[in-house]
Amino acid sequence: MIIEPVIKGVVARSAHPYGCQQAVRKQIDYVKQAKPIERGAKRVLVLGASSGFGLASRIAHTFGGAEADTVGVSFERGPSDQGVGSAGWYNNIFFKQEAEKAGRVATNIVGDAFSQQVRQQVIESVKSDLGGKVDLVVYSLATGVRPNPETGDMWRSVIKTTGKPVVGPTLNLETDSLAEMTVETATDDEVADTVKVMGGEDWASWVQCLSDAGVLAHGCRTVAYSYIGPEVTYPIYHQGTLGRAKEHMHTTAEEINTQLVAIGGQAHVAVCKALVTKASVFIPAFTPYILALFKVMKEKGTHEGCIEQMQRLFNARFYSPKETEQGVLTDEQRLIRMDDWELASDVQQQVSEIMAEMTAENFTQLGDYKGYKQDFMELNGFGFEGVDYQQDITLESLKALQS
Ligand code: NAD
Ligand code: NA
Repeated sequence: MIIEPVIKGVVARSAHPYGCQQAVRKQIDYVKQAKPIERGAKRVLVLGASSGFGLASRIAHTFGGAEADTVGVSFERGPSDQGVGSAGWYNNIFFKQEAEKAGRVATNIVGDAFSQQVRQQVIESVKSDLGGKVDLVVYSLATGVRPNPETGDMWRSVIKTTGKPVVGPTLNLETDSLAEMTVETATDDEVADTVKVMGGEDWASWVQCLSDAGVLAHGCRTVAYSYIGPEVTYPIYHQGTLGRAKEHMHTTAEEINTQLVAIGGQAHVAVCKALVTKASVFIPAFTPYILALFKVMKEKGTHEGCIEQMQRLFNARFYSPKETEQGVLTDEQRLIRMDDWELASDVQQQVSEIMAEMTAENFTQLGDYKGYKQDFMELNGFGFEGVDYQQDITLESLKALQS
């Protein structure tokens, strides 16, 4: 079969395995020539390892200077009679291939990170594949649902505001159009459920479980990823359900940090830049901001993707670089601000000017729609040079790839 891109709304219904391989290789090539991570963790667990910031964290640690062995957890679909499988499935496979070629350990665990079963599998894998301990736990899950173990039901996150309803243009990647959409006000229950799914509870529970199993190394650290954004987006993000979940995550970081003192460890939240990922394309009324932001940051030469953000996080902020000996660089709230270039006042000034002019008719010119769409296609392995998209690929050959 020839694998073509299929987009429904903002969801990709197909992925190109060899394009995903190219995506992984590109990120590896980037970190190999970037400023290296010094004194980075050598045994790393990544929860949410198959795409976005989690995959980039894994690549940065293995190929960007730390030479880490990794265990990666993700929820992905393999090839079956229903389809070729998800992009993250192939990212896992090709990351592992490259890591093993470089003499590193890379174990992929595919399953529900909220479950006890996957916790058990991870503990066993840390014991057998990482020599029994981890030095770093990266928490990078992004999902809309979390099972409630007590009832067997699902908590579902919603993307709503907590103030007055917001009307804003939302992107449809299938039709390349912007359409007005109303972001409704969340009920208290919806806020609480979103905090359950995307807040810090599961992160804390993972650290507790790993601690109980005795697999956290002395000095073990953990990091989770957050977003705050500029004031123009507060009604839809920071003061919305997702922002409330992030606030919970920030508070949780303090609790985990206190707990880790006993083993000389630390917990941090890194506040990242707005980027196109499988998760972020769902946020209504957010696209005009990203389109304007990409345009301005690319013009200024300060634009970063996931891999640039993560390599900079780990080479300049998270591990104390030899030359400075400053420790982790944070703001007063102990947050690592990787959104510093995004929030620079000259950037935000120009972004606001563009957004004020942006309409459903001109957004492809005023904003960086081409770049946005390219990023989205690349997430699913499409649009790369050097990939033969006419190649006839059999399901059997994909099933034969080792995960
Ligand atoms: P992503 O969709 O690219 O990655 C999510 C990962 O979680 C994938 O590996 C997926 O397989 C895994 N996952 C989801 N549900 C799972 C489950 N039940 N069990 C196991 N694995 C599961 O998302 P992302 O954008 O990289 O988001 C990661 C974190 O970064 C999130 O906390 C997000 O809020 C944050 N963040 C994102 C942005 C952005 O603009 N994309 C900006 C700042 C912060
Ligand atoms: Na991720």
